[in-house]
Amino acid sequence: RTVYVNGEYLPEGEAKVSIFDRGFLFADAVYEVTSVLDGKLIDFDGHAVRLDRSLKELDMASPCSKEELLEIHRKLVELNGIEEGLVYLQVSRGSDGDRDFVFPSEDTPPSLVLFTQNKPGLADSPAAAKGAKIISIEDIRWGRRDIKTVQLLYPSMGKMMAKKAGCDDAWLIEDGYVTEGTSNNAYYVKNGKIVTRPLSNDILHGITRAAVLRLAAEAQMEIEERLFTIEEAKQADEAFTTSASAFVMPVVEIDGVQLGDGTPGPIAKRLREIYLEESR
Ligand code: PDD
Repeated sequence: RTVYVNGEYLPEGEAKVSIFDRGFLFADAVYEVTSVLDGKLIDFDGHAVRLDRSLKELDMASPCSKEELLEIHRKLVELNGIEEGLVYLQVSRGSDGDRDFVFPSEDTPPSLVLFTQNKPGLADSPAAAKGAKIISIEDIRWGRRDIKTVQLLYPSMGKMMAKKAGCDDAWLIEDGYVTEGTSNNAYYVKNGKIVTRPLSNDILHGITRAAVLRLAAEAQMEIEERLFTIEEAKQADEAFTTSASAFVMPVVEIDGVQLGDGTPGPIAKRLREIYLEESR
């Protein structure tokens, strides 16, 4: 694999970042994941705008222009022959060569790393055909989940808890309400109405969420953005998640309770179809 690090395209084994990099020592870094279908980037603009916002919220310098970022994305997709897959991008605050809680001076260059992940069959996924089983766990993440930082230890632990329980993923609960999935936004459907948590600092403002809600509205589906409990979701007709890495993923079981007939619901399937159609 050819990867990108701070201005250079290199074989992955030769790419290096300092051990003092604040992304490594303090999780002082933000990231984006953009999907690739038929060799084309999906919603690059949305990801670029969110990246810019994450950087601004953390007073982090932008590593390069949006045009340069697009160029790097495209070049990596081409060099690695990605037809279906992902481009991962990370910007960290860099380092002035030591460990210090205080941010380094403003002229310290941020560090920019990108790599591709080849995922043939991403669109035509057997996992999506089957639907996901999820568990619910407490949301103990920090209070700025709208910023896409690389603090992903707890989401990783959540996925491991799900795996140990024989499930695929976890939804997070705060003050009795579902915030989102470990790496996706969460929805349920009851009597044809789609329910999802409104945007705030409590959840990531998903790029796929924005696209799917727009498509749902265009398809005359009813949408309600409000807080909801896991109990409501368990009594739903169907449920699903959205993310750049899995598009629309039907959910067929929550905490051992089967939704509907235990297969992906019609609205989740339809949204997945129209999302993929529109993206291609
Ligand atoms: N995760 N919520 C969280 C906590 C996420 O980490 C993500 C994305 C989303 C969905 O956002 P989007 O639709 O923009 O991908 C919601 C990425 C895919 C990841 O961590 O791999």
